[in-house]
This record gives sequence, structure tokens and C-alpha cells, in this order.
Amino acid sequence: MTTLVTGGAGYIGAHTVRALKNASRDVVVLDTLERGNKQAVLGTKLIVGDIADQKLVAKICRKYKVAEVVHFAAYKAVGESMTSPMKYWQNNVSSTLKLLETLQAQNISRFVFSSSASVYGTPKTSPTTENESTNPESVYAETKLAVENILKSLTAGGLNSVSLRYFNAAGASSDNKIGEDWTTSQNLIPRVMRALLDDKFKFEVFGNDYKTPDGTCIRDYIHVEDLAVAHVKALEYLESARNTLVCNIGTGNGTSVTQLLEMAEEVAKRKVPHTIGARRAGDPVSVYADATLARKVLNWQSTHDLRSIIESAYNWHSTHPNGYR
Ligand SMILES: NC(=O)c1ccc[n+]([C@@H]2O[C@H](COP(=O)([O-])OP(=O)(O)OC[C@H]3O[C@@H](n4cnc5c(N)ncnc54)[C@H](O)[C@@H]3O)[C@@H](O)[C@H]2O)c1
Repeated sequence: MTTLVTGGAGYIGAHTVRALKNASRDVVVLDTLERGNKQAVLGTKLIVGDIADQKLVAKICRKYKVAEVVHFAAYKAVGESMTSPMKYWQNNVSSTLKLLETLQAQNISRFVFSSSASVYGTPKTSPTTENESTNPESVYAETKLAVENILKSLTAGGLNSVSLRYFNAAGASSDNKIGEDWTTSQNLIPRVMRALLDDKFKFEVFGNDYKTPDGTCIRDYIHVEDLAVAHVKALEYLESARNTLVCNIGTGNGTSVTQLLEMAEEVAKRKVPHTIGARRAGDPVSVYADATLARKVLNWQSTHDLRSIIESAYNWHSTHPNGYR
């Protein structure tokens, strides 16, 4: 029995491939490598190809006796989704439909999906539970919600699934072997690390006049290794569950941009050069998870704190300024 990981050569996928192998699962990765790196899978069987290639996916399922799928493959840049919406609908939704059709034909009934807290838009309440109404504010978030809804509708046909709504994935592996590429990532922590390590890079805080204790936006940063383990737990859950579950994966702690900068300065033992700019359109003030459901139903909770996230990111970026290249 094998676990197929789509997008397993990407940032979160690569950490999850490792976690699955640590949990004694056989893994095969399918990735176009358009936005991933073959080094990231650390020797795991990698097939370079597209999830929409139905012949290829069917062949992989038969050859490796695939029994379950963890589906990361997608585009994830919010800004790009607004300027190239068709690209996002096509890859994140249409290609996922093709994948699901193939899996159904192969009688594969366990599916874990990378959803996102962005489906909440600007939540009315933080910490945010899964009962919060969804209100996607980007095409990217719309595509994630669309796949969640598709999965719900497919349960009746026998496809059981868990959609994990990730908050802000961050950090690198504790042994410094895999991490995020700051040349392609638009996430906050890689940008803070770049400001520390690359003199030419300018880091800007988007607004310090929000209604938060220090005026900067609050987010829930979750260590990528904790996030990876959540997928193992979701697959374990699906061994007996016959339904569709939607579940937040976050720490439950809100961290402001200022608190994050202070921690980065403590870890690096120097100031993070930065400027304070204007608010960025569409940035919610405060988003952090209520992770009770994950604890109760998946038996999962985060183990790394903010220091551990920043230390692992700092180790990774200071030794891999060009990512895997
Ligand atoms: N990084 C985050 O903070 C975050 C937060 C919420 C949700 N997510 C979701 O988690 C998933 C993984 O995120 P990530 O940060 O690892 O992204 P990533 O870009 O590093 O990884 C995605 C991988 O999927 C591959 N891919 C894309 N389209 C493909 C296709 N059609 N067929 C095969 N492979 C394809 C890419 O080459 C890449 O290796 C994505 O679905 C993303 O939307 C990420």
C-alpha cells in the first residue's frame, strides 16, 4: 500500500513526505517540478508529471498500489491569482477534478487536501473556528473553497476526505535539510530572513496603525514539521472515518509582525533592517486558529513555538541563500 503525494517536491509537501516515511508509510511523489525541487524529496520515488495527466496518474496508482492521496499540488500566490485567475482555476480546480476522477476510477477512497485559512477572508472572530463563515477575498482562496465543496459532494460516492485549513506555514526542517526558497516565496518569515542576510533586500512592514496591541497585523505561524505531522494524523483518521472533515491546522497563538521581528532579532543577535510602510489592501488585521477540532478529532497539536520556527528558518536561509540551487 502506497501514499501518493501530489506536489511533494514543494515546501510543505517535502516535509510531509518525510513525516509519512517516518510513520512507516511507502510514498510516491508526483510533481511537475514547476515550483518544486527534486532535491527536496530526499531520495523518495519522484515521478515528474501533472496531476491532470489521467493516464499517468492511473498508471502510478496501479503500479504502486496507491491506497490514499495527499494533495498539495496547486499554485499558491494570492497576488498572481488576481492577475492570472484562469491559471488558478485551471490548475487548482480543473486539474484537481481530473485527479479526483482518476482516483475514483481506481477506487481510491482516502484523500487529504491542502486547504487554507484564506477561505475565511477577514474572520469576524479570532481565534477562528471551522464554524466561521467563509468569505474568500482572492481567486486563490476561492479555488481552495471550491475544492473543499467538491470533496463534500463526492463523499456520497465513497470518497472520504480531510481538508486541512492551514494557517501560516513557516520554518524549515530541524536537521536543516529542507526549507523554503526565499527567491520564490512571498511569505513574511523568508522576507524577514532575507532582510537579515541580504544587504540589498528591503523589508517593509505593511502598516503599524492597526487596532492591535502594537499596531501590526497578527497571524498564526505554524512550524512546517508540525503541519507535516497533521497529514499523517489525517490519514490515520481516514482509516476508519467515512465522511468529509474540514479542520483548522494552526497553533492557536497570534503573533504580531513586531513580535516576529523581535524574535528574529533575538535569534540572529542583530537588528532586522526594515521600514514602516502603508497598510496593504486586503490584509486582515488578526487571523489565528482555534485548533480544538484538530486536537479532539485528529489527535494533533503543534509542538514548536515561535523561537523554534525562527531558529530553523534562520539556520536554513543562512546556509541556503539560493534555496536548493
Ligand atoms: N505555504 C503556505 O503557507 C500555505 C498555506 C495554506 C495552504 N497552502 C497550500 O498547501 C499546498 C502546498 O503549499 P507549498 O507552500 O508547499 O507550495 P509549493 O509551491 O512549494 O508546492 C506546490 C508543489 O506543487 C507542484 N505542482 C503545482 N501544480 C502541479 C500540477 N498540476 N501537477 C503536479 N504538481 C504540481 C509544484 O511544482 C510544487 O512543487 C498548496 O496547495 C497551497 O495552496 C500553503
